[in-house]
Amino acid sequence: MTLWRRRAAIPALHHVQGNVLRPFGYTRGAHLFMHVPDARAGRAWLHQVVGTVTDAVDWPGAKPVAARNVSLTYAGLEALGVDPRVRAALPEAFRAGMAGRAAVLGDDGPCAPERWDAGLGTGAAHVLVSLFADDAPTVEREVDDVRSSASRWGLDVVVDQRTAQLLGAREHFGFSDGFSQPTISGVPSMPGADGVPDRFGRLRPLPLGEFVHGYPDIDSDDPPALPPPFHRNGTFQVWRKLAQDVDAFNAYTARHGDVLGLPAATVAAKMIGRWQDGTPLSLFPSSPGGEEVARDADRTNTFCYGDDPRGERCPLGAHVRRANPRDGLPFGGVMTARHRMIRRGMPYTDGDDRGLVFVAFVADIERQFEFVQQHWCNDGDAFGLGDEPDPIVGRNARLTSQHGKTTLGGAPPRFLSPLAEFVTTRGGEYLLLPSIDALWALADGRSLWRCRSGR
Ligand code: HEM
Repeated sequence: MTLWRRRAAIPALHHVQGNVLRPFGYTRGAHLFMHVPDARAGRAWLHQVVGTVTDAVDWPGAKPVAARNVSLTYAGLEALGVDPRVRAALPEAFRAGMAGRAAVLGDDGPCAPERWDAGLGTGAAHVLVSLFADDAPTVEREVDDVRSSASRWGLDVVVDQRTAQLLGAREHFGFSDGFSQPTISGVPSMPGADGVPDRFGRLRPLPLGEFVHGYPDIDSDDPPALPPPFHRNGTFQVWRKLAQDVDAFNAYTARHGDVLGLPAATVAAKMIGRWQDGTPLSLFPSSPGGEEVARDADRTNTFCYGDDPRGERCPLGAHVRRANPRDGLPFGGVMTARHRMIRRGMPYTDGDDRGLVFVAFVADIERQFEFVQQHWCNDGDAFGLGDEPDPIVGRNARLTSQHGKTTLGGAPPRFLSPLAEFVTTRGGEYLLLPSIDALWALADGRSLWRCRSGR
């Protein structure tokens, strides 16, 4: 593993869309998925909108009142008339779309694409405009602006999903969320961002190419490129709406707490791997670390699992330990380094239905997001837990059987059984979030295959 020897690439920030390498940090969002009626109209609309997309250059002064991203599904590239040879050269998972990958992701039963929200997973969603601001009136103004340009060119809004941060940046189960992110070389790191443990337990930053196309990644200084114009400065976006059954979660943790003689908050923390305040069980196994530690993102996120091989402090199958096992698998961080993701999700509340709009940016959907969902969350084999799924987002047949369990560790080990479902997929899409110049190329309808020119 030559991870630490890769040359540190400097990202072309004016070409990369904002929110990828550094979070925008707004508290509200609106995600408008739109259907493009024909290529001419789609390009004309895009031409009007590209200039409003926010890039990744640092804001010199006060932050703007709003920011925007634009991304496209595979069906969207088709609708915009992208050359079939370019489309054919894009990765299979992206071409299939999230609904097409339901079997890989375990989206069956109540999570099956047939039961998803209207407009998601059907091929109708072509373009996604994600808008962010800090107050509701600004979000509404931005939404009106996008809707009116869309209607001028005949684009239909097929999904309008709003999101808003909850107090203290918590998700609906009450846990502080979103602060554990990968450190990327060449990018100023955010507080709390963590790298990949080397064999001495030191955390090293990940190469840029793990998240943005066209830069060195862990495997190579010159990884295989997507076809132009998508070969540089873009990324893939995983957009997944996950409903959370908060009452069921609270009832489950209280009931099992009674049986095991533990407070409900401890049961919940063992399922997540962190206390509600965000402090990790690895560092604070018996009670939360306290406000001072929780406020210090660096302290809450600088830990490994290698010194807790039996999951006595943090259960082997806890959500955060599965989603990023750090050095918890053999060979330090070698087995985990290529499966990291940048997360930019935000909670949603649609009347009685609430949950998380999970958003991840990755260079490779299959190797990063799907691998984690399929092998680490839906299965427990990698952690010596047989087919035990993640207690929060795991899905497998055992979830609904009477035999499923979550192992809490300890001597003797304790279990939560049977399992229950607290999270249901309401729908989702895989998108390409192109560089800003690739968006212009799409808007101009430039013949994309012939302009192939390497870098
Ligand atoms: C409703 C669904 C979900 C809930 C409630 C949830 C909750 C959480 C919480 C509370 C944390 C700890 C805070 C943090 O590290 O920032 C976390 C971390 C994380 N989650 Fe989730 N999550 C959900 C879905 C997912 C999904 C679908 C994936 C990917 C398949 C995922 C991957 C991760 C990763 C990679 C981390 C960071 C772990 C680390 O670096 O230590 N989560 N999640």
